[in-house]
Amino acid sequence: MGKKAPKTDIWWKNGVIYQIYPRSFMDSNGDGIGDIKGITGKLDYLNDGTENSLGIDAIWLSPIYPSPMKDFGYDISDYMDIDSMFGCLDDFKVLLQEAHKRNIRIIMDLVINHSSDEHPWFIESRQSKDSPKRNWYLWQPADKKRPNNWISYFELHNAWWLDKTTNEYYLGTFTKNQPEVNWRNKDLKKAMYDVIKYWFDMGIDGFRMDVVNWYIKDENLRNNPWKISFSPPSLQKHIYDRNQPESHQICKEIRDIANTYKDKVLIGEIYTNDVKEAVSYHGSNNDELHMAFNFNFLFQKWSAKSFYNSIMNWYNLLPTDSWPNFTLSNHDQPRHYYRYKKGNDSDARAKVAAAMLLTLKGTPFIYYGEEIGMTCEKIPKNSLKDPLGIKGWPIIKGRDAERTPMQWDDTDNAGFSNNTPWLPVNKNYTYKNVANQKNDPDSLLSFYRSIIWLRKRIPCLSNGDIEFLIPEPNKILVYKRIYKQEQCIIILNFSSKTIPCPINTAKNYNVLLSTHRKKDCSIKLENLKLNPYEIIIAEQENT
Ligand code: GLC
Ligand code: CA
Repeated sequence: MGKKAPKTDIWWKNGVIYQIYPRSFMDSNGDGIGDIKGITGKLDYLNDGTENSLGIDAIWLSPIYPSPMKDFGYDISDYMDIDSMFGCLDDFKVLLQEAHKRNIRIIMDLVINHSSDEHPWFIESRQSKDSPKRNWYLWQPADKKRPNNWISYFELHNAWWLDKTTNEYYLGTFTKNQPEVNWRNKDLKKAMYDVIKYWFDMGIDGFRMDVVNWYIKDENLRNNPWKISFSPPSLQKHIYDRNQPESHQICKEIRDIANTYKDKVLIGEIYTNDVKEAVSYHGSNNDELHMAFNFNFLFQKWSAKSFYNSIMNWYNLLPTDSWPNFTLSNHDQPRHYYRYKKGNDSDARAKVAAAMLLTLKGTPFIYYGEEIGMTCEKIPKNSLKDPLGIKGWPIIKGRDAERTPMQWDDTDNAGFSNNTPWLPVNKNYTYKNVANQKNDPDSLLSFYRSIIWLRKRIPCLSNGDIEFLIPEPNKILVYKRIYKQEQCIIILNFSSKTIPCPINTAKNYNVLLSTHRKKDCSIKLENLKLNPYEIIIAEQENT
């Protein structure tokens, strides 16, 4: 203890990244929608340099660019400005400055597979077949039949949309208001690269890149083969509309741009179930993305074994010079508190999940609100906002439940806004909120805070190598983090039962943080009995 913080060689490897869904974090002007000033006002909550704050190192902002909001910002109509709903460029610059003052980096969302149909590029493109920007998008002559069988994910429909102006089809594989750009067009490419430079020049620290593996489509627009599935987008093998080899070339070029600046990060969403394919976007010599999102935890059931297999699978397939990452929740999937909830054990489980996320080797991503255990409550039909949820009702739930307003306190609208919020606040805000948990040493929030600050004090917890001590874990995970002379051990009991820790080593460990043991007490692993959902993070004592 009491060691100096590690020299942060690479901030995005050592740091904790916090995702904010801007519409739902904090509303500063009472229109019921979160905004930039709201976020700036809450920076001290995120990191004020003391252990009273959460202690995160970077914020990833879901899109805040001008947008008709058909997909809540993932449909961009101007890549170089801020939507007035969220504020203005000056507000953004203040946020950037205030965040940097607190050593918080800012990562923007980069949605360049498609734009909004209200983007001036598309408006110009659709005007005529001879428009100079015609080939900035993917147009196909209208025939009796649509060009191929590709499916639009959110419309649950064929992905080709007839545009009456020229009587041709354009491609939109999300909503029909998100036309896909043509990455084979040099001018389009240049325009997108200018966008990237524009934000880097302004001083942002990185990009989270949307659906990277969809950028390029098969040049011959071949039909995808069909397969059996219950969910419409999985009814096809996406071998022609996604994952084309040329996507890697674009990642290389974007990485080259990032490399001309200092300390920037690129984190990409690779939309696939295939881990091999996801990790391939790190490139062969670490020359593509710094990190491809690892989404596997989003789909794991509650079991030490299933988490272990998922962790090892990522570690084993990751190229040797690349850095891992982990995410339990995001804006597209039900929150993990909800996925793993089990009556009175729910908080204990959330702590085990947090301890795992924050002590594995790899950059942890926290989704706003997970630190207070926000869950997913049912959204009434007339309050639904997500196009997927509206189209798919009542079978496909959509993503509104994981996007509800942050629960700050027990006042009206959970302290998020002094007006009716754009999505209903979870009913449990009256007791589940930041104000309530802030001064409670046993709360989930205090737990997140303690581990995050512990990571800053003990270098091996963020930098260290990892070694698992139980090769085929059933109910508990035990692993070491090792950095130079320093060793920590992490013990996580995933079960509701008291179980012996099956590790026999005579070494003594000093408890740094535990759910059931006092800090600084000395433990031996031999004959150690673990309480239900017990967590121990301990440092090997010098002998
Ligand atoms: C990504 C985003 C999702 C968005 C989609 C289309 O999957 O995470 O929220 O709707 O891309 O941009
Ligand atoms: Ca607002």
